[in-house]
Amino acid sequence: MSSSSIEPAPVPPMPPTGHPAIDWAARHMPLLDSSFAEIGPVFDGLHVGVSIHVEPKTAVLCQRLLAAGARITITGNIGTTQPGTVDALRGIGATVLGSRDDTPAERAGHLERILAAEPDLILDNGGDLITRLTQGAPRSPRFLGATEETTTGGNRLRQLASPPDFPVVVINDSRLKLLVENELGVGQSIVQGFMNATNLMLPGARTGVVGYGPCGKGVADTLRSLGARVTVAELDPFRALDAVMRGHQVAGLPDLLATSDVVFLATGARNVIAAGQLSFLRDGAVLAGVGHEGMEIDRDALAAATAEIVQLSAAGDDRDARVVYRLRDGREIVLLHDTHMLNLTAASGNPIQAMDLGFSLQARSLAMIAAGAVGPGVSAVPEPVDRVLATSLVRVLSERS
Ligand SMILES: NC(=O)c1ccc[n+]([C@@H]2O[C@H](COP(=O)([O-])OP(=O)(O)OC[C@H]3O[C@@H](n4cnc5c(N)ncnc54)[C@H](O)[C@@H]3O)[C@@H](O)[C@H]2O)c1
Repeated sequence: MSSSSIEPAPVPPMPPTGHPAIDWAARHMPLLDSSFAEIGPVFDGLHVGVSIHVEPKTAVLCQRLLAAGARITITGNIGTTQPGTVDALRGIGATVLGSRDDTPAERAGHLERILAAEPDLILDNGGDLITRLTQGAPRSPRFLGATEETTTGGNRLRQLASPPDFPVVVINDSRLKLLVENELGVGQSIVQGFMNATNLMLPGARTGVVGYGPCGKGVADTLRSLGARVTVAELDPFRALDAVMRGHQVAGLPDLLATSDVVFLATGARNVIAAGQLSFLRDGAVLAGVGHEGMEIDRDALAAATAEIVQLSAAGDDRDARVVYRLRDGREIVLLHDTHMLNLTAASGNPIQAMDLGFSLQARSLAMIAAGAVGPGVSAVPEPVDRVLATSLVRVLSERS
């Protein structure tokens, strides 16, 4: 694969899958087309084990990998697997494990089955597969390496006691992904998910965003652009400064919780809302998840504080859409989709173009691993890959304007 060429080679269109959402996504993923045209035959005959949200954009990546001669075994994350995409993926020859309603134990079983099949390459989301490999899970003698998609997974892998002895590229460690997906894509799609899940009005709303990394920044800036009043809580003083200089109110977490009717959790950190923080929440506060796997609320503390749970189902009769926790002290708080990532549970995930970029980073990084061009250990997306895709994206967007 050439990482310095910026002209996309012609690429044959993928045949329709018969699943309109996948075929629509494919029409809007030109970077993935040109990436596969440049990559060449490196995936031919390889088995790729995939753990990532099973939704239409993912299906386009899988379709391309299958067309390049790979075999795919894939499972999704909890609560985000789309049944129509599962059927379509099976229809084009992928092995799909699991469903939208998987419990954590069932999902763990699917991850074990992927590893038991001894794939040559792993595409991970949250570090669950890669961590297991570092802890002695079965591995093919032909195993080549892995990519990790997320901020949370990248952090987890960098904290492992024994680093991976195989190549791991953290896709999130890409300047381009942080801007296009985490900031601009998540900003738009989380707010879209909030509006779908609640039917509430944003202009004038008192909102709080906890964490002003790229994701929190995108959410805060999108909320404000729609007329919401936004308070940000951020531990890092440089990021807090960025927030205040962009016009947001910056406060400590207790103040944010005491003054916000809607709270977006964008830290990716565990138990940010523990017993002490629960006591600051306003009566009626709505909590929305941005960060990976909905782990930012201390579930034991919430259970201890709760007298009664009431489900207010939304469109599609999704019982988790809006769950009211009536607390022992008389207040109510509302969790949207159990604070799982709201753009995936209540909207269509990140915008197609953001994932066109993200999956192009994935495809090019997997190809470099398959070609033996990445050494063992955890590393960032190679800078030339970022550069060629940034150049291509500017050209694609300019041509359309
Ligand atoms: N929903 C999606 O589609 C999507 C997409 C990309 C990433 N993510 C996830 O979103 C999360 C955030 O991603 P990011 O790239 O912005 O991460 P990041 O680590 O760059 O930013 C998180 C920020 O939260 C701050 N923080 C941590 N604990 C805090 C606390 N108690 N109070 C206030 N601030 C605190 C940190 O200082 C940091 O600045 C991660 O879990 C990531 O995996 C979600």
